[in-house]
Amino acid sequence: MEITPEIKERLELLNEKYVALGQDLLSYLDGLLYADTVKYWDYIEVDTLLSLQKPKTKFPDEEIFIMYHQITELYFKLSLHEFKQLGEKQTIDAAYFTERVTRINRYFEALIKSFEVMISGMDRTEFMKFRMSLLPASGFQSAQYRFIEMYSTDFVNLVHKDVRSNYSIDSPISEMYDNIYWKEGATELITGKKTLTLVQFEERYQNEFLELGEKCKDSNLWRVYLRLNDADKKNEDVINAMKQNDVNVNINWPLAHYKSAVRYLNKDSADIAATGGTNWQKYLPPRFQKRIFYPELWSDQEIDEWGKAWVEEVLK
Ligand code: HEM
Repeated sequence: MEITPEIKERLELLNEKYVALGQDLLSYLDGLLYADTVKYWDYIEVDTLLSLQKPKTKFPDEEIFIMYHQITELYFKLSLHEFKQLGEKQTIDAAYFTERVTRINRYFEALIKSFEVMISGMDRTEFMKFRMSLLPASGFQSAQYRFIEMYSTDFVNLVHKDVRSNYSIDSPISEMYDNIYWKEGATELITGKKTLTLVQFEERYQNEFLELGEKCKDSNLWRVYLRLNDADKKNEDVINAMKQNDVNVNINWPLAHYKSAVRYLNKDSADIAATGGTNWQKYLPPRFQKRIFYPELWSDQEIDEWGKAWVEEVLK
């Protein structure tokens, strides 16, 4: 074999690399000689991925339910991958900021569009049966969903809207966490007690939520936005990407999700047991939660009418 100048140059570069690491190039060339080639199924872990669907019942549609939740968790992970990088950037410009927030928007838009897989894609009678075998588990217990909220906005914006004005960005995270909006969604209507769904969720994740709340104080997306220079802060693309993010996460996804709850859970009294006796009809719609990540970017009227048009559309 002819040792071309290109091959020689690569060998020299490789040698430099390994000398700098105090390593012997020849041993690494031997490693290359024996290494296997990469196969798609190994790299993507296809067999592992396809082994992760473990239904609790014999109803075929339960697999759709499991897989769609898994797909959603992967998109949440993709979103968090971007939030983390954005949070760590100390110097940032409008182009990078917009590009990365648009990636997150794209992930949520894929989820919003595909939610039809849930809304129209399962047999209701089957769903009502296999749902009972999954109690008290609920998508409510998706920790990544809560991480996304903390990576997006100041913690105070996640406090329940009725007591939010008692807190500020300087309030202790632990006090705000006690009043975080989502605890209402897992509180029994009649007794006011926490549901088992919530008790178990907090047992598993509360410490992580408190730690992340502290960590995100200076690195949530709103704080990253505030680090942009004045011109970039006013940049239309930046503002539109942020607003789209707010609408995707806090109106459009919750509403697509709400439609599936309406389709499957609205009719029977057994549904009350299936959701731990919570009043999800009053809790889930964005209009009632008024969860807004970037209130500074919206007018008073827009805040006042948050999610209104969309909810009316669904309830029609
Ligand atoms: C047929 C499909 C679905 C139905 C009927 C449904 C129903 C519900 C209900 C009733 C709640 C209120 C809490 C509770 O009572 O458990 C809830 C909360 C939640 N679900 Fe679902 N869900 C469905 C699919 C999904 C999917 C695919 C995900 C994706 C991870 C998901 C994620 C969530 C989240 C994050 C919450 C909390 C929302 C909040 O706190 O605002 N759900 N769901």
